[in-house]
Amino acid sequence: MHDANDTNTPPAPAPSLFTWEFASDPYPAYAWLREHAPVHRTALPSGVEAWLVTRYADARQALADQRLSKNPVHHSESAHGKGKVGIPGERSANLMTHLLNIDPPDHTRLRRLVSKAFTPRRVAEFAPRVQELTDRLIDGFADRGEADLIHEFAFPLPIYAICDMLGVPPEDQDDFRDWAGMMIRHGGGPRGGVARSVKKMRTYLAELIHRKREDLGEDLISGLIRASDHGEHLTENEAAAMAFILLFAGFETTVNLIGNGTYALLRHPEQRERLQRALAEGDETLLATGVEELLRYDGPVELATWRFATQDLTIGGQRIAEGDPVLVVLAAADRDPERFAAPDTLDLSRRDNQHLGYGHGIHYCLGAPLARLEGQAALATLLRRLPDLRLNAEPEELRWRGGLIMRGLRTLPVAFTSE
Ligand code: HEM
Repeated sequence: MHDANDTNTPPAPAPSLFTWEFASDPYPAYAWLREHAPVHRTALPSGVEAWLVTRYADARQALADQRLSKNPVHHSESAHGKGKVGIPGERSANLMTHLLNIDPPDHTRLRRLVSKAFTPRRVAEFAPRVQELTDRLIDGFADRGEADLIHEFAFPLPIYAICDMLGVPPEDQDDFRDWAGMMIRHGGGPRGGVARSVKKMRTYLAELIHRKREDLGEDLISGLIRASDHGEHLTENEAAAMAFILLFAGFETTVNLIGNGTYALLRHPEQRERLQRALAEGDETLLATGVEELLRYDGPVELATWRFATQDLTIGGQRIAEGDPVLVVLAAADRDPERFAAPDTLDLSRRDNQHLGYGHGIHYCLGAPLARLEGQAALATLLRRLPDLRLNAEPEELRWRGGLIMRGLRTLPVAFTSE
């Protein structure tokens, strides 16, 4: 189908994937793959072999293809059975029945129920609280003239925001910060600490749900307990798994949106000045299109979560055998010149921008409205309050986290004139 599959001798050697250089800038390697091996079988760092789908059209189609299952149970031999895939400790903690791991009809039922509680309206009403949190975090370092924006800003903001929304009492939120920190630091590394953190989070959430059931409030956990669809409710276990996936799916992603987004703005002064001018004039249109463009240009989720072929099928002309794991490379698809004009250019006012940063199809990001709210509040407030924000390190000194699915900076040292 694609000419790349018809040639036997690619003009240049295939790039090495999953090295340090790749982690700091995977885009040249993805350009090569799109061109020469758009559906590419490779060994992942864990040793598991998977197909990488890199072209936009193939990626979008694969994300919506119901023959690709999210349920790893079908495929225990190929991946999960070896304990290589998924959230460490998750299986034992019985949190498997969350949205990202299941197919219809279970997925349809759970997604319908959570959508009754986690509504765009609830998110919109939360805007003042996100602004408050954003300002409070910036207050913590604004008089110091320098900061690490990952640790002091991008990291705590989403965790406090989602804890608040769920109804975790303020005095317990720092525990979540610690557990989440363990998960983000060691996501691809030592498993013991991560498994313990997941277990603690699960126990805490189960108890909280139990308590809330006795005394329902206005928070999201109470909303999840109340939600009903044709007389059906979430079980306590499903509600705990749902709260967990909201935390898990909404945390590192948003850290990376703020981190990668701020970094991209600092590397593109003309775009950043444009945005600052627009904000100073009270125009937030560029902020909205800009956050979408930052998601396309260097999004938080490099690869969509695992999918497995439930039957033999083809993607982009490439035959995939039943049971094979398939990874859709969102970061590669969103730089596809077949879909985006000048894809390697950051253009905050880009309009034709149907990027795949939030996925596509039935697993499309449930938290997109909250992520947009947080991303917009974070970037606008940083630029307004610290107008001369600048990178306080050479770009080559920055290190990217090594996990497979996510793409994000470990640290983002900045300097600015103190408030
Ligand atoms: C699903 C991206 C923030 C909750 C997804 C998927 C992507 C994604 C790509 C689909 C994964 C796949 O198909 O394999 C992002 C990005 C975010 C973000 C880039 C931030 C910028 C959030 C937030 C929440 C959230 C803040 C909730 C608080 C979810 C949930 C799913 C999901 C629950 C699973 C939906 C389903 O399977 O039906 N997200 N996400 N996300 N996201 Fe997000």
